[in-house]
Amino acid sequence: MKVLVIGPGGREHAIVRSLLADPNVSEVHAAPGNAGISKLVPTHAIDGNDPDSVAALATKLGVDLVVVGPEAPLAAGVADAVRAAGIPVFGPSKAAAQLEASKAFAKQVMAEAGVPTAMARVASNAEEAADALDTFGAPYVVKDDGLAAGKGVVVTNNRDEALAHAQSCFDVGGSVVIEEFLDGPEVSVFVLCDGRNTVALSPAQDFKRIFDNDEGPNTGGMGAYTPLEWAPEGMVQEVIDRVAQPTVNEMARRGTPFVGVLFVGLALTSRGTRVIEFNVRFGDPETQAVLARLRTPLGSLLMAAAKGELDKAEELRWSKDTAVAVVVASENYPDTPRTGDRIRGLKKVDELDGVHVIHAGTKLDDEGKVVSAGGRVLAVVALGTDLVEARERAYDGVELVQLEGGQFRTDIGRKAARGEIKVSSSATGSLPVTKTKA
Ligand code: AMP
Ligand code: GLY
Repeated sequence: MKVLVIGPGGREHAIVRSLLADPNVSEVHAAPGNAGISKLVPTHAIDGNDPDSVAALATKLGVDLVVVGPEAPLAAGVADAVRAAGIPVFGPSKAAAQLEASKAFAKQVMAEAGVPTAMARVASNAEEAADALDTFGAPYVVKDDGLAAGKGVVVTNNRDEALAHAQSCFDVGGSVVIEEFLDGPEVSVFVLCDGRNTVALSPAQDFKRIFDNDEGPNTGGMGAYTPLEWAPEGMVQEVIDRVAQPTVNEMARRGTPFVGVLFVGLALTSRGTRVIEFNVRFGDPETQAVLARLRTPLGSLLMAAAKGELDKAEELRWSKDTAVAVVVASENYPDTPRTGDRIRGLKKVDELDGVHVIHAGTKLDDEGKVVSAGGRVLAVVALGTDLVEARERAYDGVELVQLEGGQFRTDIGRKAARGEIKVSSSATGSLPVTKTKA
């Protein structure tokens, strides 16, 4: 099987790495890729967000499967163009990608499908925003309705700050979704979907804020670990039964079947499990950790999803190890990241036992040296027999990375390793139905 992977980031590097370990995969290509990906497979300098360019490249290469990594190409209709060219694709259509591209659309689908989520209101002007903020009270949650690379959400106790964020979205012609605040630990569950069937991967936890102890602004994600020893039994089954399968059924009923990864961002709140958000692609950096443990050949699995045959796929097999991914970001991320700096020490990281580097915002300069080219530069991924060992190994690796101004969190997986994560007893098993359809 010949596969083309679309995207420039860490998630795509992790996907390429896993595809290369699948005995059924004979050849992998990537576009546009990054410095790490280009060391593994041929890369193609096309605009990965342009549907026609991707379909043309896939046709020229004669690939059997296209895997689309990020949300932007999906929202732009890349999967539709590839499907129209007669090539199986892992990734939802433009219409189905609205589950991520519009938070208001996602809320509608959740309501129709009876999926438990935060109460929410859409606001398009200051008056509506103020009214919604006062309805739900503090802490205030204000979300840009459109795609914002994980950075369009403000959670604050300061009403003026909440209003200012809403206003900044209105100023550029947008709208916002204002929600009730959800307490409790957050979990990411990736559910493979083939339009009808659903298969959940092992859950992970992501760290969204830039600084230790969840301080500072939101980022795309500064680290992750998996599996979650502390997660309530039955959590994944509940996600399938109450969230993923009803959503996939609803999308099929609407005539816009969902094929790809439904990324369910959950909060295990004191009032039960609630969906915080849907994304329509693998999470980054969770994928770097999750795929490090997956033993089932990835290419065959993604092909089964693309062809509507997940019901025939083999049961997933996982390493017993725990995986941790720690992101190294550039100076000034998530604001205006500094780029173009040499990155040294990566070979030494790869030599460590159970540790590897996944590139994100990197490129090769004119001399063929690896330099930073984005906000999140790379992730050090480590496997260990438990979370304590995996963390130690990951941070041993991070210490070897030399990047001027580089920043990383020192507490990825720390609370879980110390047994400090508490889940309320009502967090699962007592889901209220938000709305049922006759
Ligand atoms: P989103 O882009 O919707 O995933 O939001 C980004 C982050 O904001 C989430 O991972 C949460 O940490 C936080 N967040 C979003 N919605 C809520 C909510 N209703 N209550 C509490 N925190 C939230
Ligand atoms: N790590 C969260 C995301 O990919 O959106």
